[in-house]
Amino acid sequence: MKSITEFQKYKQSGIPISMITCYDYWSASIINKTDIDAVLVGDSVAMVMHGYKDTIAADVRMMALHISAVHKGLTDKLLIADFPFLAHRKGKKYALDAVEIFMKQGANAVKIEGGSPVADLIRYIVDSGIPVMGHLGLTPQSINLLGGFQIQGSSKEAADRIFTDAKRLEDAGCFAIVLEKIPSNLAKRITKSLSVPTIGIGAGKHTSGQILVLQDVLGLTMNFNPKYLRKYLNGIELITKALNSYNADVKKKKFPSSKESY
Ligand code: KIV
Repeated sequence: MKSITEFQKYKQSGIPISMITCYDYWSASIINKTDIDAVLVGDSVAMVMHGYKDTIAADVRMMALHISAVHKGLTDKLLIADFPFLAHRKGKKYALDAVEIFMKQGANAVKIEGGSPVADLIRYIVDSGIPVMGHLGLTPQSINLLGGFQIQGSSKEAADRIFTDAKRLEDAGCFAIVLEKIPSNLAKRITKSLSVPTIGIGAGKHTSGQILVLQDVLGLTMNFNPKYLRKYLNGIELITKALNSYNADVKKKKFPSSKESY
């Protein structure tokens, strides 16, 4: 995908949208050659690449650095950039300054966490010509309020609140909405009643598309095994094996060989 207008086309024709997170140049260069539809430079970068326990440490500077690196490798796909903790709660000028930095580093759109309270700001950003993706359900920037990373929308009231928020975000002009860790039947209800696509993570199979964290898909994250995650590679095992082979060759003076020497 090269443009957000394709999100709508995919939903209309019933083609699921595949998304993956990415934080750096070399993995962006690999993703660029795959069939994956679009990429998110998520604020999960704070956890996956910088070792923080949650996404609260991500800020505009950290995001801008990673957006710029991903953009250099991702020449053929849509790049969506996450708004970090509180960047959308410090007033319109702060938000628009962040949008400007992200777009100038190569983002094609931004993603903002939250429901009705952020709808007016989303409208303002969309009216400024910037596509916005919403994010409902488990919104990791609010984990201190939510009490952790658990499933959201399990009670009827909570489900209705997320449903109403989804409608508000669509009205505010979001071109798509991420639904994170909510019951599958709620995701189905939202997806059916919106005209814009939904992108699920831990939200079942009835969303218009799926997103996962790259390192989770490749089996590169330690001690992270949520029910929703399918690993397509045992990356940790493969990398450990490769590095141990290199170490063994060095120790046994098998590397470098004469062919690998000048
Ligand atoms: O930051 C992130 O990686 C995300 C996705 C999991 C949706 O927001």
